[in-house]
Amino acid sequence: MTATDAVLGAPVERREGREKVTGTARYAAEFPAPGRAHAWPVPATVVRGRVTGVDTASALALPGVLAVLTHVNAPRLGVPDDPTLAVLQDPRVPHRGWFVGVVVAETLEAARAGAAAVRITYDTEPHDVTLTASHSGAYVPESANGGFPAVTEQGDPDGALASSATRLDVEYRVPPLHNHPMEPHASTAHWDGDRLAVHCSSQGTTAVRKELARLFALPEDRITVRAEHVGGGFGSKGTPRPEVVLAAMAARETGRPVTLALPRRYLPAVVGHRAPTLHRLRLGADRGGRLTSLVHEVTTHTSRVKEFVEQAAVPARVMYAAPALRTAHRVAALDVPTPSWMRAPGECPGMYALESAMDELAAELGVDPVELRIRNEPEREPDSGRPFSSRHLVECLREGARRFGWESRDPRPRSHEAGPLLIGSGVASATYPVLVSPCVASARALPDGGFLVRVNATDIGTGARTVLAQIAADALGARLDRVRVEVADSGIGFAPMAGGSSGTASWGSAVHQACVRLTGLLAEHSGPLPDEGVTAEADTSGTVDAESPFARHAFGAHFAEVAVDTVSGEVRVTRLLGVFAAGHILNARTARSQFIGGMTMGLGMALTEDSTVDPVFGDFVERDLAAYHVPAHADVADVEAHWIDEEDDHLNPMGSKGIGEIGIVGSAAAVGNAVHHATGIRFRELPLTPDGVL
Ligand code: MOS
Repeated sequence: MTATDAVLGAPVERREGREKVTGTARYAAEFPAPGRAHAWPVPATVVRGRVTGVDTASALALPGVLAVLTHVNAPRLGVPDDPTLAVLQDPRVPHRGWFVGVVVAETLEAARAGAAAVRITYDTEPHDVTLTASHSGAYVPESANGGFPAVTEQGDPDGALASSATRLDVEYRVPPLHNHPMEPHASTAHWDGDRLAVHCSSQGTTAVRKELARLFALPEDRITVRAEHVGGGFGSKGTPRPEVVLAAMAARETGRPVTLALPRRYLPAVVGHRAPTLHRLRLGADRGGRLTSLVHEVTTHTSRVKEFVEQAAVPARVMYAAPALRTAHRVAALDVPTPSWMRAPGECPGMYALESAMDELAAELGVDPVELRIRNEPEREPDSGRPFSSRHLVECLREGARRFGWESRDPRPRSHEAGPLLIGSGVASATYPVLVSPCVASARALPDGGFLVRVNATDIGTGARTVLAQIAADALGARLDRVRVEVADSGIGFAPMAGGSSGTASWGSAVHQACVRLTGLLAEHSGPLPDEGVTAEADTSGTVDAESPFARHAFGAHFAEVAVDTVSGEVRVTRLLGVFAAGHILNARTARSQFIGGMTMGLGMALTEDSTVDPVFGDFVERDLAAYHVPAHADVADVEAHWIDEEDDHLNPMGSKGIGEIGIVGSAAAVGNAVHHATGIRFRELPLTPDGVL
C-alpha cells in the first residue's frame, strides 16, 4: 500500500481546525473594511396587517446614525425567486418579526439604538397561527418539498386495514423546531461602483449571487459572494436570507461597507424553521407481523409569503414492504413565519412518527422491534418498484443490536427499576436519500510539484475542504499535503450548496473529474511545467445522474437507553448508538462527527427542543438559547457512531452516500421508544419534557 492508497477514508484532521480554535478564522461579520458601518433591522410588532406610518426623526437624530430605510424610502428591488427576500418593498406585514426597516450607523450600538427609536404604526387584521389536524384551511398542495407528489397510493389501504389481523391507528405531533446555528446569519456587503462584494454566512454562494443579481438588476459576474467559514447552518443558510439583501441595500444607500449580523432573537422569524407536523399513522399487519397496509398522513403549516411543505410522509414510501400504501400531505397557510429546511426535512419528523408507530405495532404483536423491521424488509423500493443500489438496513439493525447488547433486554415495559429511575431501551431505523447536483471544479499542477484544486464548495463545519483534498489527492495519486483546496467563492464557478447531504458527492464528482483529466494532461506533458502550471477543468452538468434506474438511499439503525426519573420526570439519555450504511466513508473522523452531531440533534428533538407559536403574540416564544434548549455536554453522556462500509457502484467515483443528515433521522424515535420501554407509557408528542412525562 502506498501513502495515497490510504488517503480516502483516513481520519484526516480538519484543515482549518487550528484557525478556528485560535480565533483567526474570519466569519462573515468579521471583515472590518475601512469605513465599515453596521446595520440593525426593525422587526414588525404586529402579526398581520400593514404599515401605515413611519417616523424616523428621533432615530436619525441619534449620534452615529447614518440612515434609516423603510418601505417608504428603500430602493425598489427586482423580484426575487424567494419572496421572503422582498424586504422593504411594500407596507404589508405577513407575520410578526417580518422586517419593516433597517438602521445603518457608525457602530453596532448606535444602529441598535436607532432601530429602537424608529416609530412604526400599523393597521392590523385578525390572524391565525394555530395549526390543528382538522384546520379548515388545510389543502393538498401540488407537491411537497423536494418536488415529491403530495399524495401517493398503492393497493387498497383502507380495505387492507379493515381486514388486517392487527391494526394500529395513532397520532403524533412534532412541534416547530429551529436550526439555531452557533453563528447567526450575517453578511458584510461592499459596493465598488457597480460591483458588489459580499461575505455571507451561507451554505452556498451560487444561490446568494443569483438572488442578489435579480434583486439589484446586475449581471452575476459583477457580484462576488464568499463564505469562507460558516458556523453551522443546518439548512437555515441553504438559501439567502434577508440580512444579505438589507446589508447590500444599506451599503449602496450609504456608500459604505455594511455589516449586518442578525441578533439571535430575530432569527426564528426570518431564517426558517422546521414546520410543525401532525401525523396520523395507520398500520395493518398479519399474524406473522408482516405489514398489510401502511397509511401515513401529515398535516403541516406554511406562511402566507410562500408555500413550503415539510415532506414528512415521504420516508414511508421507502422503508417497508406493505402491499397497500398511502402517503399524504396537507398544508395550511397561516400568518406564521415561513418554514424551511432543517436537517433532514421530511425524513426527520416523518421517521419519528413512522418508527414510533412500528414500535407500537411490535408491542401490540409481541414481536421484537428489531425483528419486526427485518420481517418487513422490501425487495425493491415500495414506492417506485426500483431496485435499491444498495440497502443494508438489516445489517445495521443486527450490528447495532450486537454492539448495544440488545439480546439481554427484557422486552416487558417497566421491567427495570433502579431506585427512583426507570431504565429502558429502544430502537429505530434511519434513512436518507442520495442526492447529487452538477458542479464545476478545476485542478492545477504547479511547477513546485504541488496542486491547486478550486471548487465553490462551502464548509459549514463539516470538514468539506478536508475531504475534497482527500478526494483530489486520491484521484491525482498525490500526497495529501501537496494538495491545496480553495472553496466558498462564487468567482470559482457554480456549485450546489452544502445541503441535502449532497455536497461531498456533488463537489467531489467535479473535483475527481478535474483531477483525472489533469493526470491525463500530465502524462502527455514532458519537461518542466510552465510557470502558470497546467490546469484541467470539469463540469459535471449532464453527467451526474440525478435520475437513476436505482433507488439510492443511505440507511441506519439507532439504539437508545434512557433513565426516567420518577420523582422529577426528567429523561436522561444514558446511551445512544447508531450504525449506518452510507457507501464508502471518506473521512472517518469528520464522518463520525457528522453522525454524532445528527444523533445529538435528535436527542435534543426528543427531550428539549420546542418552538411554541403563541396564538395571541403570533410568533415563536423561544427566541434565544436560554429558552430554546439544545443539548449541552452534560446531556450527551455516551454517543457512539459506527458504520458498515458499503460497496455500491451506482453512486459516484468515490462510492459515497451523504452523511450530513441521516444521523438525526430516527434518533428521536429511538429515545421515545426507550421511554415507553422504561415507563410503559406511550408519549406521542415531542419533546419529552419533565412536565409531560411526570
Ligand atoms: Mo440540509 S436541511 O439540506 O442543509
